[in-house]
Amino acid sequence: MTDRYAVLGNPVTHSKSPLIHAEFAHQTGEAMEYTAIEVPQDEFASAWQAFAAQGGRGANVTVPFKEEAFALCDTTSHRAKRAKAVNTLIVGGNGRLYGDNTDGVGLARDLEYHRVVLKDKRVLILGAGGAVRGALEPLLAEMPSEIVIANRTAEKATSLARDFADLGNISGGGYDAIDGEFDLVINGTSASLKGDLPPLPEGIFAKGAWAYDMMYDVEPTVFLQWAGPRGAKLLDGLGMLVEQAAEAFFLWRNVRPKTAPVREILRQSLNY
Ligand code: ATR
Repeated sequence: MTDRYAVLGNPVTHSKSPLIHAEFAHQTGEAMEYTAIEVPQDEFASAWQAFAAQGGRGANVTVPFKEEAFALCDTTSHRAKRAKAVNTLIVGGNGRLYGDNTDGVGLARDLEYHRVVLKDKRVLILGAGGAVRGALEPLLAEMPSEIVIANRTAEKATSLARDFADLGNISGGGYDAIDGEFDLVINGTSASLKGDLPPLPEGIFAKGAWAYDMMYDVEPTVFLQWAGPRGAKLLDGLGMLVEQAAEAFFLWRNVRPKTAPVREILRQSLNY
């Protein structure tokens, strides 16, 4: 029987993951099947169990089930524990369920792909939810001089920064506390999905700065539309999506697919 994988989420109809993994499988000659499964809000555990009973060997987990997936696993990786979320499920040889989180490493690899150097640079991160939590450890590993987290609910940013204070120079607060210029500004809020822009002050981009949105859309997000005329170089979340998928594929199949050709295919489906 062909090994089966899936992305579990809600909504999941527009997910690019089936396309990405089909390309990886084709490229590496791996015999596998990958589908998208839309899971009703309260049925994550039963949906996974049903899929595993039908030969599911692993899955990607997306919004809003990453925390539930974390709770369901028998064992989780160090990076999943830090993120308190699982985006990759793997069935072990003994039938036990192992959970990992490849989102943060996906972001770090995408930055590396675009030669965005973080060492000794100032980084501003917008948002303090699950997406940002998952990204902090790999970002701090690049040794920026400082990471500042700004969030609508300031206390969430402060407490998130406290959780990672053992790994580097990191602080958090509200948007009104943003001070000075940054070399990289990452939008990790879900505001982009609603077409909203966080209340950002002028003058946050240093010369040669990058603006990175973890989201992507067929058009540039409102954050990137705001950042472009202010001189920042722009990156959206498409590369991160491909890189986190490549890491999941590696965990399942022990083969590392090439990401550049898949980036190309996905980019062509957008309008810019
Ligand atoms: P995810 O798992 O995608 O990170 P989340 O944990 O719900 O989702 O976090 C969403 C983030 O986007 C939060 O930082 C949220 O700010 P609050 O903590 O104040 O709620 C932020 N966010 C969502 N909509 C926003 C908006 N319209 N403007 C600014 N920030 C927004």
